[in-house]
Amino acid sequence: MAIFGKKDEKEEKIIPELLPKHVGFIMDGNGRWAKKRGLPRTFGHLEGAKNFRKIVRYCKDIGLKTISFYVFSTENWVRPADEISAIMDLLRDYLDDVSELLSEKTRAVFLGDKSVFPDDIREKMIQTEKDTAEYDEMTMLLAINYGGRDEIARSARILAERVKNGEISPEDIDEKAVDSCLYTAGYPDVDLVIRPSGELRLSNFLIWQCAYAEYYFTDVLWPDFSPRELEKALIDFQGRQRRFGGV
Ligand code: FPP
Repeated sequence: MAIFGKKDEKEEKIIPELLPKHVGFIMDGNGRWAKKRGLPRTFGHLEGAKNFRKIVRYCKDIGLKTISFYVFSTENWVRPADEISAIMDLLRDYLDDVSELLSEKTRAVFLGDKSVFPDDIREKMIQTEKDTAEYDEMTMLLAINYGGRDEIARSARILAERVKNGEISPEDIDEKAVDSCLYTAGYPDVDLVIRPSGELRLSNFLIWQCAYAEYYFTDVLWPDFSPRELEKALIDFQGRQRRFGGV
């Protein structure tokens, strides 16, 4: 296989057999996208949400099976109230358009503690999970009020309860046991993490599941991260050698 960058990029194509099993997206750069245009940050989130829909459709078209998106972290609550409320409104709008997911036969699963959301949003999330539960072509995991460390601590608490109740013993707690109590239980580890906007960090996103992930960073801001940009990331991924600790 040609090494990415050595040949004319246009000649490279996505090889369906080499698609990552799980791609994680950190949707970063909405605020800067708006600032560059002299617009309020909330416009950036609006464009970011439009792009999110476009990218989900493209992922389905090319045959990805599991995709995850960092929508709102446990740390994002410190943002200005108007920004938080704009993001919640975008989420409401999206949940109202669940027909989009149904027509695309896409399963939606929410990662994170739902209890903190306004009742209407929480109920819509639960209903959306129920309405799309039968779809197995592609699953979209939405990390909302999500933090990787929080998720691992929660898994430890669940296992500690089981020890306390005599259901398991401390020796039973291995990687598989921790994994089975994460929000993502049953879904594959992340193979490829994509972070636009020039930031080179994971920011507490699926930290357990990304242990052996490949990383793809680009300066493009999330609202401009087009299907072509995703295609480039996937072609880059296909050219990498993964050793998982071996030689
Ligand atoms: C990070 O960019 C983005 C967020 C914290 C919010 C992401 C939310 C959306 C794209 C809307 C999603 C909506 C739905 C329906 C899923 P930033 O604001 O930190 O950008 P900056 O680093 O340029 O300031």
